[in-house]
Amino acid sequence: MQINRCADIMSSSLRHYSAYAKINLGLRILGRREDGYHELETIFQQISVRDVLTVAAQPDGIVVGCSDPAIPVDEGNLAWRAAALLRQRAGVTRGCNIQIQKNIPVGAGLGGGSSDAATTLMALNRIWELHWPLPQLMPLAAELGSDVPFFLLGGSALGRGRGEILTPLQIPQEWWGVLLYPNLPISTRWVYENATFNLTKSLKNSKFYSLTSFAERLSDWDLHLANDLEPVVFNRYPHLMELVEGFRRKGAFYARMSGSGSALFGLFLDKSDALNALAGTRQEHTTFLFHPIAPREE
Ligand code: C5P
Repeated sequence: MQINRCADIMSSSLRHYSAYAKINLGLRILGRREDGYHELETIFQQISVRDVLTVAAQPDGIVVGCSDPAIPVDEGNLAWRAAALLRQRAGVTRGCNIQIQKNIPVGAGLGGGSSDAATTLMALNRIWELHWPLPQLMPLAAELGSDVPFFLLGGSALGRGRGEILTPLQIPQEWWGVLLYPNLPISTRWVYENATFNLTKSLKNSKFYSLTSFAERLSDWDLHLANDLEPVVFNRYPHLMELVEGFRRKGAFYARMSGSGSALFGLFLDKSDALNALAGTRQEHTTFLFHPIAPREE
């Protein structure tokens, strides 16, 4: 039985899939909803930092493996849940084997688990020969998590609602980024629970403007984009604000926390400035050089 199972993995289309991370270029909280979630508006940008998934069909069962032993490989893993959900909804009887090479920091606001889940949906859609179009996969993605639908789309997008109502955006892509993860995992739920927001008449909080108005011009980003979750995290961990300021001192035209943190990023027009900033980061932090990623083609 074990031998047959191995043979099936080898003979099926065993393929590698990139699961790219995201940063939030801006994130506004518009209110708290009755379902406990927050109504928000955010600009998602997919970036070149990625996990790699190796996915294959097998006769039955869902098996997940991960290079990081701290990450669960059962239903606690969002890729496992994605496979189980698609299998059930599509009435599939075959199983799958998903091996995750984990590079995206966890608890960082980079959407690593969500990207793995979206990539799993896409890979199994192909491997199980379901041929579901994107609009059919989207509701499953939204069930799995607020950020998962974005990763089906990829590229740059405005997210509204919980983050699952998406509009593709054309935004400038001629920049380099430095990502800094301060090795401080942060619970998304904790950050949202502690978020305070007031719908004042200030431009930043006005309901009457959209982040999209400022997405097209790089010079507008620092003036008009913000992340409303930064104060929650920076109040608790003030040294993170210093790290963001450090990017600005090194010439970043824009620097922020991503999502609910704790990953921070600085964006640079010149690759040499980005490399210089990267070289200046401290060894105890996990860092990456990155560039933006275009939308998926399939
Ligand atoms: O949807 P997801 O499971 O990724 O969200 C994790 C947690 O983040 C939620 O349980 C909720 O506490 C918080 N959240 C929120 N509003 C959003 C997205 C997430 O309050 N729009």
